[in-house]
Amino acid sequence: MPGTIRIGIVGLGAAGRAFLPPIRDNPAFRLAAIAEPVAEAREAVAAETGAAAYPDLPSMLKHPHLDAVYIATPTELHPEHVALACAAGKHVLTEKPMAIRVEQAQAMIDAADRAGVKLLVGHSHSYDLPIRRMREIIASGTLGRVRMIHTWNFTDWMHRPRRPDEFDTGQGGGVTYRQGAHQIDIIRLLGGGLAKSVRATTFDWDPARRSIGAHTIYVSFADGAAATAVYNGYGYFSGMELTSDVGEWGFVEPAAKRVSRSSVALTPEQELEAKRKRAKNAIPASAPHQPHFGLTLVSCERGDIRQSPDGLYVYSEQGREAVALPTERSPRALVLEEFAQAIGGAATTHSGRWGLANLEVCTAAIESSRTAREIELKHQVAVA
Ligand SMILES: NC(=O)c1ccc[n+]([C@@H]2O[C@H](COP(=O)([O-])OP(=O)(O)OC[C@H]3O[C@@H](n4cnc5c(N)ncnc54)[C@H](O)[C@@H]3O)[C@@H](O)[C@H]2O)c1
Repeated sequence: MPGTIRIGIVGLGAAGRAFLPPIRDNPAFRLAAIAEPVAEAREAVAAETGAAAYPDLPSMLKHPHLDAVYIATPTELHPEHVALACAAGKHVLTEKPMAIRVEQAQAMIDAADRAGVKLLVGHSHSYDLPIRRMREIIASGTLGRVRMIHTWNFTDWMHRPRRPDEFDTGQGGGVTYRQGAHQIDIIRLLGGGLAKSVRATTFDWDPARRSIGAHTIYVSFADGAAATAVYNGYGYFSGMELTSDVGEWGFVEPAAKRVSRSSVALTPEQELEAKRKRAKNAIPASAPHQPHFGLTLVSCERGDIRQSPDGLYVYSEQGREAVALPTERSPRALVLEEFAQAIGGAATTHSGRWGLANLEVCTAAIESSRTAREIELKHQVAVA
């Protein structure tokens, strides 16, 4: 697309606000409009950015100068919001997980195809530079084939301030949809994309916060590789102990601040207020170290790779090599770059079909746990 991409954001919570700095800093984009029902958030962002402000997506889509929409609303609204944006002829970047059911994701892809617009699903943690560089090393073939991928994360996700729908699996709540989406995206990117089957156990063991709060997922790949995604969101142990004390957003956190279980003591109104307050700064624009969505460790035939605070460690017959990576461009800046490339006509990894394939693994994990069966996958695609 020639010229600046005029983008609108719908939903100004943690995810929506996190895109304000990368949009501001990317000359290919201009923030033209925002849509958010909560007046305080809407007015604050309108004052900060000068974007035209609307209470909802249908009214924002009538804005006369809009090329693209970033959908950062709660997951259960993604199918409806993507359909509306596509029907209005806008390119769409939507948050993860793409939807709740695979059929919804397919309808979103069909809507984009019918309208002739691009659809990108911005699972931001596979844009973390250490993960991208792992993919490049794997693709170079120097370490041989990938045989095992393990990605493990231990956080207080279940005890951060939340709305009730965030705990309802039927509305895309719980850690398998919300956090497993990142883990599966990372695993599929590193494994080449073509997962074959899933066996999983999900857990709901805290009577004070009923939801899927933990999981162990085992993914088999068509080429014989195997992967595990382990997530525990109950907030006792912090995965930062496995990642040199560096957390999700690239900061070293003191031990006392890594996990908190304080939301249990709040009333629903206090919790909603705490969530809105937290959303303002939940995701920092830049960081001194690499972001760590837990520990990711890849074993290839002739070596292993894992994240380090400032990049990667590559283990081979030559010993351990430290690979330093820059921190200037945030994962969200890289999501936007890929979105611009997609709009420009390039084939990109995080397409609607890629997002559907990630969603298929997450839903299969929940189904596998429910039925105590291994689930065969049908919608997998290779890395573009
Ligand atoms: N990629 C990431 O790292 C990342 C991080 C956080 C959240 N997410 C994803 O982003 C999505 C939103 O999560 P969040 O944590 O920002 O949630 P949030 O609850 O903090 O924000 C959602 C916002 O959408 C607004 N909203 C609700 N209904 C709306 C409607 N009909 N029209 C317009 N706005 C509406 C809410 O008022 C709220 O401000 C989820 O799908 C989540 O999985 C992704």
